[in-house]
Amino acid sequence: MNYEITNPDPSSLIEALRALGYNLPTAIADIVDNSITAQAKNIKINFHWAGKDSSISILDDGVGMSETELSDAMRPGSRNPLDQRERSDLGRFGLGLKTASFSQCRKLCVASKTAGGCLCVRSWDLDYVTQTKEWRLRKEPTLAAEKILGELSGENSWTLVVWNDLDRLVGNVSAHDPGAQSKFLYAADHVIEHLALTFHRFLENRVLSILINKRELKPWNPFMETHDFTYQTPEERIPLGNSEVLFKGFILPHKDHLSSEEYDLNGGPRGWNGEQGFFIYRNRRLLIHGDWLRLGSPNPLRREEQFKLARIRLDLTNSTDSEWQLDVKKSTARPPSIIRERLTDLAAAIRSQARGVFAHRGQYGPKSEPQTLERPWSPRKRNGQHVYLIDRAHPMVNGLMKKFNSAKPEIESLLRFLEETVPVQQIWLDTAEQVQGQGIPYDGVDFENLRADMRILFEYLVQSGINAESARQRLRAMEPWNRYRDLIGDL
Ligand SMILES: Nc1ncnc2c1ncn2[C@@H]1O[C@H](COP(=O)(O)OP(=O)(O)OP(=O)(O)O)[C@@H](O)[C@H]1O
Ligand SMILES: [Mg+2]
Repeated sequence: MNYEITNPDPSSLIEALRALGYNLPTAIADIVDNSITAQAKNIKINFHWAGKDSSISILDDGVGMSETELSDAMRPGSRNPLDQRERSDLGRFGLGLKTASFSQCRKLCVASKTAGGCLCVRSWDLDYVTQTKEWRLRKEPTLAAEKILGELSGENSWTLVVWNDLDRLVGNVSAHDPGAQSKFLYAADHVIEHLALTFHRFLENRVLSILINKRELKPWNPFMETHDFTYQTPEERIPLGNSEVLFKGFILPHKDHLSSEEYDLNGGPRGWNGEQGFFIYRNRRLLIHGDWLRLGSPNPLRREEQFKLARIRLDLTNSTDSEWQLDVKKSTARPPSIIRERLTDLAAAIRSQARGVFAHRGQYGPKSEPQTLERPWSPRKRNGQHVYLIDRAHPMVNGLMKKFNSAKPEIESLLRFLEETVPVQQIWLDTAEQVQGQGIPYDGVDFENLRADMRILFEYLVQSGINAESARQRLRAMEPWNRYRDLIGDL
């Protein structure tokens, strides 16, 4: 075979790797991924301000690395992305440690120790690599790392990552530059916010503790799972290849049910409007938040005020990374085409419920209510086909039959006629074409008609022998009157 070897030029490749598009929070999250994969229970992140000599360090108490493992880990492309990984592994590309670090600093030092093993150290100095035009991995710590290493001891295992020469965040500034210092501290606040969300499921179970500048990081759970007025759908399992995706919808409480403190706290990093939609987790680590994923065609689901209470949790495993087109930064993923339609249908249902809560000022009631509502229509199967039948025991039907007992066969005939001609196909087409267009019952109908219908039903209920208060109670748990609670009070 006729060939020549063309090794990539280190300085050009380094600059390309630095431009992958990380920011400080996503870069630190990538380092934390490695600590979690290494079974760390405690992670300490420190932002040390010293002007141009400032540094950021991440220390974990995971299993650590032997010297050969560390050398390998420092190599860009240390593992093949096609390799099968442990189920709990948060990595994929064998790049994160290097790409995340290089995006923020010119000097990276990693020191590690396994239980009972020796301390080993490796450092990348990008200026040295550029100068020598060789990938020379240094076997000594950087100055910044040396200071921290002096304070570490003990038999246990740990790994320390130190970044300095933070040319993008800090640059060549004096330690006494107040503007530069507050920018540094402000960046730390962003990191806190990002990690509190990205790793909230680890932090919640107390499986993991993260200290940032000695302050314990508190998890931020976007679903308000413990609030009485949060409505949660049952978990749906969507098969995908040899694995599956778990889908769970949450309708968050209306503002009327929240204190102003709860309201501010639960809006999240981008606020209520910005945090609607999907939250995608891979092995319980958040990849994407508040995004409708361009689902829905030809009318994509859009971010709109009326859907701001809808949040959806999607759980992926690490065995479907290629289907989701996971990227190195772990901040994008695209739903595989095979499940897009199913996701769109499920998301549309959550959106329509969220809009109901939003439009009626939270009068959809506490979390269990939407499931136990009394409804006039009941979907059934007949000879394998879907049919939609009117419940004969519904007080509206039952009351009418009793009142006009002699016309019972004709009323029965009318109901059957309506049931047999439900324009299912048409409804299906209309909703598929215009996902957001599902109307709310009685929206746009004259208020007097609404009141009149409600009153007829109320009278049937009272005629059936129950008292007025019980009749009102029953109406409150009945579709669609549950949406008009204020009017029920006037009956
Ligand atoms: N804190 C740590 N403790 C123990 N081992 C680590 C630690 N950080 C990195 N490693 C080792 O270094 C390897 C390379 O890490 P790197 O982040 O570059 O790639 P990755 O995690 O395998 O994949 P990805 O590019 O998706 O992050 C890891 O696979 C792991 O074996
Ligand atoms: Mg990694």
